[in-house]
Amino acid sequence: MSKVNVLFVCLGNICRSPLAEGIFRQRVNEKGLSGRFEMDSCGTAAYHIGKHPDSRSVANAKQNGVRYDHYARQFEVKDFYDFDFIIPMDDANYEDIVSLRPKGAKAEVFKMRYFDTLEINSDVPDPYYGGEQGFQEVFDILNRSVDELIEYLLGKSNK
Ligand code: 4NP
Repeated sequence: MSKVNVLFVCLGNICRSPLAEGIFRQRVNEKGLSGRFEMDSCGTAAYHIGKHPDSRSVANAKQNGVRYDHYARQFEVKDFYDFDFIIPMDDANYEDIVSLRPKGAKAEVFKMRYFDTLEINSDVPDPYYGGEQGFQEVFDILNRSVDELIEYLLGKSNK
């Protein structure tokens, strides 16, 4: 069975999307599903290319039991062919991605909170200019949305 390739996208690729990727990877490993998925993350903007995730985000995740690392990169049109699912964090990321979509590209695009059972289809708020509480809010949103996302992707890939 071929792997499902999932790409998480935010603006800078230093706060939300690398954390989404990190939580997703950890949860997939815990479920014994690491052979079923490949995951990556990127940003729509070029501001932070090559940087590690924001230290506030990494510290918050560690407190919540998740460790991860990443080198920021920018979204490229090629990603539409390399990934099966592209998961933007907010409406702005969604619009930016969809506006670049080549005709016939295979990837499907869903906002992250399409999979949030508590508050469907809102944005994952950008925590960059806020305080510690914002990072915890982002963690909680991603943490509870990831299981539903995994279930959805398994359902799709089993068809
Ligand atoms: P992210 O957060 O999109 O979740 O990585 C941001 C990171 C950097 C900036 C904005 C948002 N920035 O303006 O530099």
